[in-house]
Amino acid sequence: MIKVMISGINGAMGRNVLEVINEDKDTTYVCGFDKDENKEENIYNNFDNINEDIDVVIDFSHFSVVNDLISFCKKKNIPLVCATTGLDEEILNNLHDASKDIPIFQTGNFSYGINVLEKLVETAAKLLGDFDAEVIEKHHNKKVDAPSGTAYMLAEKIKENSPKELEYKFSRYGKDAKREEKDITIHAVRGGSIVGTHEVLFAGADQVIEIKHSAYSKKVFAYGAVKAAKFLVTKKNGYYNMKDM
Ligand SMILES: NC(=O)c1ccc[n+]([C@@H]2O[C@H](COP(=O)([O-])OP(=O)(O)OC[C@H]3O[C@@H](n4cnc5c(N)ncnc54)[C@H](O)[C@@H]3O)[C@@H](O)[C@H]2O)c1
Repeated sequence: MIKVMISGINGAMGRNVLEVINEDKDTTYVCGFDKDENKEENIYNNFDNINEDIDVVIDFSHFSVVNDLISFCKKKNIPLVCATTGLDEEILNNLHDASKDIPIFQTGNFSYGINVLEKLVETAAKLLGDFDAEVIEKHHNKKVDAPSGTAYMLAEKIKENSPKELEYKFSRYGKDAKREEKDITIHAVRGGSIVGTHEVLFAGADQVIEIKHSAYSKKVFAYGAVKAAKFLVTKKNGYYNMKDM
C-alpha cells in the first residue's frame, strides 16, 4: 500500500483526493496538513510535528504553503505531487532545486482532457499564425488566483508555437484598448460553482476556431493527482509532469 499525506486536506480538492485514495486499492491515507490541527483525522498544522511513515505527499493547498512543504519533503526524502497553482518564480525554482534530491511531479492541471487540449492548441498555434489568439478561463467564485495555472500553460503553448512574437495581456479596459498584433490575451471569469472551463479562441478574417474543455467535477483532478502519486513512488529524483506519465 502506498502511504499518502494530503496537504490542504480540508479544502475542496483535499477532500476529493481523500475520497479517491479511500476508493483506490493501492493507496492509503496516513495524515493531512492544513491550517487547523485535528487529531481525530490525523491532521497537522505544523510540519515539525509530522513523524509519520509517508511514501508520497499530494499537495492541493495554497502557494504560501509550498516552500515549507518542499523543505519538509526534502528533509524527510518524500516524493511530492504539487498541484497547487499560483506558484511564483521563486517557488518554481525551489521545486526544481528540490527535484535534484527527491522526485517532484508538478502541473497546473491534472485532467487528461486538458493535456489533450494543450496538444491541440500547440498544433493550432503553429498553423494559425495570422489569427488572433485569446484564452478565456472560467472558475468558481472561491478561486484565489487569476488567471488559472492552466490558462498560463495554454497561453505559453501558443507563445512557444506561434510564428509571431507574442506578449501576454490580461483582459482589456479603457478608451484606448484596441487589440495589438502581439497580444495574447488571457481573460479570467469568476462565478458560482464553475469547476473549470478553458477555451482558446483563434480568430481570423471571417472565421473563428474555438477549442474548449470543461471539467464537470473536481474529482477529475484528484484522479490525476493520485495516478501521479503512484507514478512518482516508482521514480528517482527528478522533475516530472503529465507528459512523463
Ligand atoms: N493542478 C490541478 O489540477 C488543480 C486542480 C484544482 C485545484 N488546483 C489548485 O489546488 C489548490 C487548492 O484548491 P482548492 O479548490 O482545494 O482550494 P481550497 O481553498 O478549497 O483549499 C485549500 C486548502 O489549503 C488550506 N490552506 C491554505 N493556506 C494554508 C496555510 N497557510 N497553511 C495550511 N493550510 C492552508 C486551506 O485551509 C484549505 O483547506 C489551489 O491552488 C487550486 O488552484 C489545482
